[in-house]
Amino acid sequence: MIIAVDGPTASGKGTIARALAAHFGLPHLDTGLLYRAVGRQVFLDGGDPDDGGDALAATSFPDLLLHDPHLRSEETGGLASRVSVHPAVRQALFERQRVFATQAGGAVLDGRDIGTVIAPDADVKLFVTASVEARAERRWKEMRDAGIEVALSDIAADIRRRDERDSNRADAPLRVAEGAFVIDNSAMTREQATAAAIEAVEAARRT
Ligand code: DC
Repeated sequence: MIIAVDGPTASGKGTIARALAAHFGLPHLDTGLLYRAVGRQVFLDGGDPDDGGDALAATSFPDLLLHDPHLRSEETGGLASRVSVHPAVRQALFERQRVFATQAGGAVLDGRDIGTVIAPDADVKLFVTASVEARAERRWKEMRDAGIEVALSDIAADIRRRDERDSNRADAPLRVAEGAFVIDNSAMTREQATAAAIEAVEAARRT
């Protein structure tokens, strides 16, 4: 069983994907991490994330980089969004994701284009989203708890910028895949959103 989980930044798709993987006993791949590694590698190389050549060169990042705590930062998220517009970068990361998706026994992948490009043949497609306000507030709380003081309005502006870039790029833009089940969790707790996702997968399996 292949489960595709797509959605915008800070939507909770990663949490849901991990919960689904645990519940159904499947391996999970956070594909955003691959783009984050490319963004981080461009930075380490002193390259330009908006330059297709520099970004492509960074796709040969060492596997060890996937464990770098810097990958989780907002800065690296922004760099990831910028390198991900280049078709050559997406192409370079395609095979790795496809191999993961099609392994025996199934897999859960989360990202932006799993249901549309990486695994259009997925058994279940979920699109996890929430309002900009709800996402900004959650991100703000997470950062505050980590001791980072940032204005809520700055976080909301950053989220809007990321949405805009991820949704309007020419190659594999963020879209609700055909047949995807949409979970808008603006007014849901984490537990409710996870329960809705499990129910959607079980419903899809019954049909
Ligand atoms: O999900 P995330 O915030 O870790 O992703 C970081 C960036 O990587 C995101 O803004 C766009 C890009 N990305 C992508 O283009 N395709 C994916 N499947 C996953 C992420």
